[in-house]
Amino acid sequence: MQLLYTTIFILITIGFLLTSACGNQNNKSVQTAHNQEVTKKMKKETPPEQLQKAKEILQTVSEAAITSIDAKAKYRVFCIACHGPKGDLNFNNATDLTQSTIGLEESIAQIYHGKGMMTPFKGIMKDKEIVAVAKYIEKLRK
Ligand code: HEC
Repeated sequence: MQLLYTTIFILITIGFLLTSACGNQNNKSVQTAHNQEVTKKMKKETPPEQLQKAKEILQTVSEAAITSIDAKAKYRVFCIACHGPKGDLNFNNATDLTQSTIGLEESIAQIYHGKGMMTPFKGIMKDKEIVAVAKYIEKLRK
């Protein structure tokens, strides 16, 4: 009788260990996938309302207004501290602008609203200056 109880106990324990081990592994991979998804979102996707604002800015600023701006000079004043003269300084974890692949609207949205360690330039730079600088940094790409 004692042996029977012990055997049943051991079997239950093994069963429990097996299911919990598998369960954990599944959870882990789901968790990792989830985290990767979150990281990807944080890195890549611009919130829709920010993109909308960027579109509005692009529509309201005329070509003539953009070319009237000395974009390089503005870049040197506002962006060089973190991105460096060539865009590849990466100070404060700033993205290497020479490796950037994002579109003009995303750039404008990010400059206007800021992101992470990057300060927003809404109210600091005029809309036309933001567009001019967003176009200028595309020229820094390799
Ligand atoms: C205080 C430091 C700082 C300053 C000043 C700064 N940036 Fe940034 N920039 C960052 C950081 C940090 C990131 C990465 C943000 C993130 O993804 O969390 C970034 C990312 C960017 C990106 C996104 C690139 C990509 O491919 O994702 C653009 C575009 C950009 N900056 C443009 C500018 C422009 C233009 C200026 C000047 C008007 C500027 N930045 C000034 C720190 C700065």
